[in-house]
Parts: sequence; structure tokens; C-alpha cells
Amino acid sequence: MRKIKNRIITTDFNDEDSIFEPKLRPDSFDGYIGQEKVKSNLKIYIEAAKQRGDVLDHVLLYGPPGLGKTTLSNIIAKEMNSKIKITSGPAIERPGDMAAILNGLNEGDILFIDEIHRLNRLTEEVLYPAMEDFVIDIVIGKGAAAKSIRIDLPKFTLVGATTRAGLLTAPLRDRFGVINRLELYSYDELKKIIKRSAEVLCIDIDDKGAEEIAKRARGTPRIANRLLKRVRDFAQVKYDGNITGDVASESLDILEIDKMGLDLTDRKLIMGMIEKFGGGPVGIDTMAVSIGEESDTIEDVYEPYLIQLGFIKRTPRGRVVTKLGYKHFGIVGMEEFIDD
Ligand SMILES: Nc1ncnc2c1ncn2[C@@H]1O[C@H](COP(=O)(O)OP(=O)(O)OP(=O)(O)O)[C@@H](O)[C@H]1O
Ligand SMILES: [Mg+2]
Repeated sequence: MRKIKNRIITTDFNDEDSIFEPKLRPDSFDGYIGQEKVKSNLKIYIEAAKQRGDVLDHVLLYGPPGLGKTTLSNIIAKEMNSKIKITSGPAIERPGDMAAILNGLNEGDILFIDEIHRLNRLTEEVLYPAMEDFVIDIVIGKGAAAKSIRIDLPKFTLVGATTRAGLLTAPLRDRFGVINRLELYSYDELKKIIKRSAEVLCIDIDDKGAEEIAKRARGTPRIANRLLKRVRDFAQVKYDGNITGDVASESLDILEIDKMGLDLTDRKLIMGMIEKFGGGPVGIDTMAVSIGEESDTIEDVYEPYLIQLGFIKRTPRGRVVTKLGYKHFGIVGMEEFIDD
């Protein structure tokens, strides 16, 4: 039990904000910029559940890292006036741990399981009746004397987050009433997020400054916030503290982040596809081996942004580099052979 109290579960979300700085994570729908469809749907479900005096249906949030899944879970709990308990798939090793967590919930609580695709099968199976009927089945004793007893749970809402809905088993996925995919953010949305964060952190930034950072943030608020903090340091030490377009652009050049936010791995990935595989189609595992990265990392972190930029696309036979991709990496003369 001690282990569960100390490690598996917490109630504090502020893992990424420094203790010396004000909180960047928005804690209401108003501060949560973008993802309009997801937000408006959730608002309706939350309102409806509150009107009925019921708990919210189980929610699955999926999408690439840093897009706001954890943040949104926190907001859901606030809007429901619920307490949230936070844990993650890999932290819950045994079915007994899962049973203990569920048994420790109170009526109306939100249980947030991050990286839910990493639950092991036996542990996951404890969740099925819990999600469906708010009960758990516990086996007591061993062998012929073993008895299964059923324990009623209070009604709760499970919020699961994953970078990969595809890795969830069908029985688990089917038990979520609400399934939302978070999308990469547009430049305009990232600009708003950067301005909001700058305000929270008391950083002076103008429109052009925010735009420069937004363009290089790979559609990802976490990266936008990180770049903002780094550019702030340059602005403070090398300039007069204000982040203008020029200050942002020069600082980001020094940080070797190219105009579109691409880094060395993106370049290696695309050049590898072009040089070794004639531009594709290439399978994700082959790509991974050829540049020495995990295929998970490529699928979660690199590929979504390259697809958003239109540099590569997915086909049933694998990934291919598009004309735009060839152009961006300065390969001329080859585009004619590509049909996209
Ligand atoms: N819609 C948003 N508006 C404003 N800020 C946001 C938004 N989404 C995310 N952020 C900021 O980006 C940071 C990363 O978000 P969060 O931790 O919720 O991402 P995540 O999807 O849970 O990532 P991971 O998959 O790595 O767990 C947060 O600290 C928050 O400040
Ligand atoms: Mg998270």
C-alpha cells in the first residue's frame, strides 16, 4: 500500500513547470487554446453529465507528445469539480495494484492513466469490469479453494492518454465512451499560446517575435514554450529583453533550429529515404534502422510534423517523400519523377 501512495499515484500535475516560475499549464478551457472540436464536444459532455448529476463517460485522449493531453485531463477534472488521481500504464505492474487504485477511488473521482497503452494484459483486464459496471473481481485463495469475489466501486471516470491509440487493445478502446484525437496546432494557435505563456512569464514579445517562434515549434505547444524560454534568455543577455522578430530569428538560428523547426533527425530521415530508398515507399522499421532511431520515436515525434508540412506521406506500401520534401531539402531535378 505504501508503494501505491508514494509512487503509483499522485494528485499533482505540475511536472514540467519549474518551481521557480508561474504555471504555464492552462487550468480552464479558456486558457486552453486550439483543439476547438475536442473542446466543444467535451464541454457538452461535461455539461450534460453535470445536469444529470452523473459522472462523465470514460475519455480517451490520443495524439503526439506535447499537444496537451495531460493538460486537458486536468481541465476536465476541474470542470467536473472532481478530484483527480494520476498514474501511468508502466507504473501499474500487477493486477493487485490496479485493484487497489480502483478500490481507493471516491464517487465522481477522475482516474487519469497516462501512457495507457503500456498497461500489461492482466492489469488491463481488471479495468474491463471496472469501466463497464464499476465492479472488480478479486480472486482469494489458491487452487481448488480459490474464490472470486466481486467488489462494487464508486462511479468514476477514467481518462486515458496515449500517443498511440493503435496500440490499445480493442476491448479497452471499446470501453471508452468518448475518444478524442488531438491534432498538431496551426501557426496562429501556437502564436496565441506563445503570447499567453509570455504573459504568464512576464516576457515582452511582439507579434513578429511570437510568429518566428510559432513557425519553428513543430505544431507542438510544449516545444513552443521551450523555445520561448530559450529565446527569452538570448533576449535578456544579448539584447534589451524584448523579443522581436529579429531577436527571435537570430536566437533560434544560434540554437540551430531551421526556419520550419526541423532538426538533424528530420533531415537524416528524409535524406535517408531519398538516398537509400529512392524516396520510398519505405516501411517505418526500415527507416528506423537506417537512421538508428526507435521506430516509436519516428512515428510519434518526427513523422506527424513531416506529414503536416507535406514533406512525406503515408501510402499503403510505406512512406514516400513528396515533391515538397525534395524541394525543401534542395534536391532539384528529381521532383519530376514523383507523382503526388
Ligand atoms: N491547448 C493548449 N493551450 C495552451 N498551452 C498548452 C496547450 N496544450 C498544451 N499546452 C502546454 O504544453 C505543455 C505540454 O502539454 P501536456 O503535458 O498536456 O502534453 P501531453 O499531450 O500530455 O504530452 P505527453 O504525450 O508527452 O504526455 C503544457 O505544459 C502546457 O503548458
Ligand atoms: Mg502528458
